[in-house]
This record gives sequence, C-alpha cells and structure tokens, in this order.
Amino acid sequence: MKYKEFGNSGTKNSVIGMGTYYDPLWIVTAKLGWLRDAEKKIQSLRAGLDAGINIIDTAELYGSEPLVKKAIEGYARNKIFLSTKVWPTHLKRERLFKSLEKSLQRLGTRYIDLYLIHFPGSKDSNREALLAMEDAVESGLIKFIGLSNFNLKDIIEARKTLRKNDITAIQNQYNLKHREPEKDLLPYCEKEKIAFMAYYPLAHGKLIEDKNIIDISKKLKITPAQLSILWLLRWNSVFPIPRASRPEHVIENVKAVDIEIPKEILDKI
Ligand SMILES: NC(=O)c1ccc[n+]([C@@H]2O[C@H](COP(=O)([O-])OP(=O)(O)OC[C@H]3O[C@@H](n4cnc5c(N)ncnc54)[C@H](OP(=O)(O)O)[C@@H]3O)[C@@H](O)[C@H]2O)c1
Repeated sequence: MKYKEFGNSGTKNSVIGMGTYYDPLWIVTAKLGWLRDAEKKIQSLRAGLDAGINIIDTAELYGSEPLVKKAIEGYARNKIFLSTKVWPTHLKRERLFKSLEKSLQRLGTRYIDLYLIHFPGSKDSNREALLAMEDAVESGLIKFIGLSNFNLKDIIEARKTLRKNDITAIQNQYNLKHREPEKDLLPYCEKEKIAFMAYYPLAHGKLIEDKNIIDISKKLKITPAQLSILWLLRWNSVFPIPRASRPEHVIENVKAVDIEIPKEILDKI
C-alpha cells in the first residue's frame, strides 16, 4: 500500500479507502437490525485493513456503522482513519451532537477521525453545524471536519465560517464518467491542500462493464476496476473510496496502487 498526506491533516493515509454504502434495501434492513451478508462484508473490510488500507468511510445514513464496528474490532484504533457523516436534517447544534453521539456508539469508538456534513443544508444550518463541529474538535470527539456534495462557493463559505479549524477533506463524486470536479473542485483542492475523497470511483460498478474501459484495461493487462482507480490517482489530492463487499475485489483494488502506468497514457484515457 502507498500512503500520502491527507489534505492539511498532518497525517498520512492510504491512497485508497473503503466505502460502506451498500444499497437502499440494505439500509432499510440494517436499520431494523439485520446486517445482510455481514460476515462477507466484514471479511472484505478486514482484508483491506490487513493489506494496509486505513480509511473506512461510512455515514449515519448507511446503516453500516455497526458493521464497521465489528470489522475494526481487534485492530489498533489509532491505525484506522474513520470517516462518517451527519445527515442534513441534523445540522442544528443539539441535533448534530445527538447524531455524533449515536455514530460514536454505533462505531464503538471514542472519536471520529473525519466528520463530514453529508449534503449541504441552508446557509444558516451549515454555519450552525460547522461551529458545533469546531466544538466537537475541541472536546476531542472528532479530529477533522469535512464536507460532502458541496460546490466550490459553499466550500469557500464554510472555510470562512470556521474560526479555529479548516476543512480537511471534501467528498464528492468523481470517476471516468463524471468529470465535473476537474473544472474547479480538483484544482482548488490541489492548491489548498484539501483531500478529495472520490466517491463512486467505479461509477457504482458501471465502469467494470464499460466496453471502452474493458478494452483499454485488457491492452494494459490490468482489470477495469484497477484502471478506474489508477486514473483517479493522477491527482495528489484524490483518495478513491471504492466499496467492495467481496475480499477478492478489495485485494484487486489494493493491487492497483502498485501498478505503474505512465501518466501520459492515463491522461489520454
Ligand atoms: N458522500 C456521498 O454522498 C456518497 C455517495 C455515494 C457513495 N459514497 C461513498 O463512496 C463509496 C463508494 O461508492 P459506491 O459503493 O456507491 O460505488 P463504487 O465504489 O463506485 O462501486 C461499487 C461497486 O463496484 C464493485 N466493485 C468494487 N471493486 C471491484 C472490483 N475490483 N471488480 C469488480 N467490481 C468491483 C462492487 O462490487 P462488490 O460490492 O460486489 O464487491 C460494487 O458493486 C460508498 O460505499 C460510500 O462510502 C458517498
């Protein structure tokens, strides 16, 4: 595994992480207490941790926090970088602290490494949430603050709102089929040292079935998933967070990191 500076955090993280959003039905059943296929999903997360991945991404919405708790049992907590997210209807100070407390309980941890606002709320509620998150940093409940699905204007606004901290990471969609962040978000993150966690790095699995991607990856003697991940890693700020619920997929994704493909070829794609 390779590691690099995670935004302005002063800590190094594995260049890829692991997502834990499964599907809408999984969320519904998980909220009712049934973690479908839990054993395989836990094995997959552990395969990733054993191979050196240290970022695990979840959210209060996903229903996967209890699964992550089981997966990380027995691993040194300070070797894992946990990110979770607060839903936009929970941005009022008191509500945010309640959400945070529940996430901590479900994850079985005393602190969250990166706490993100999952989607932007109104200007006022974003502000209230960010100030509450600063207090959570102060009390040691979270280490870093992040934003997900925010546009550049709102990211700049959020950074102005923060008094003592900065935005460490953003989390937005970025993959070979969705290149919008290249216009403004990625150049901004590169310049400002903000980590960009790329969600849907495999376009929710669609890239694996794309004829062009399959053809190019065959020529390069790698797999479509590996090509999709390597292509994202051209940016220093980017940390793709593919979700894989099968250990063999996680291992394949981990191996991508060590494959050397000249940047010119990746840029051409
Ligand atoms: N902030 C947000 O609003 C937001 C939104 C969406 C997602 N996310 C985060 O981003 C993560 C990733 O997104 P995602 O899970 O929706 O999509 P994704 O990672 O783009 O794709 C997941 C799909 O790719 C498959 N896959 C993974 N590795 C593979 C491999 N080596 N070969 C073949 N297939 C492979 C998975 O199959 P298996 O599961 O069968 O292994 C799964 O079907 C989420 O889990 C979540 O943590 C954040």
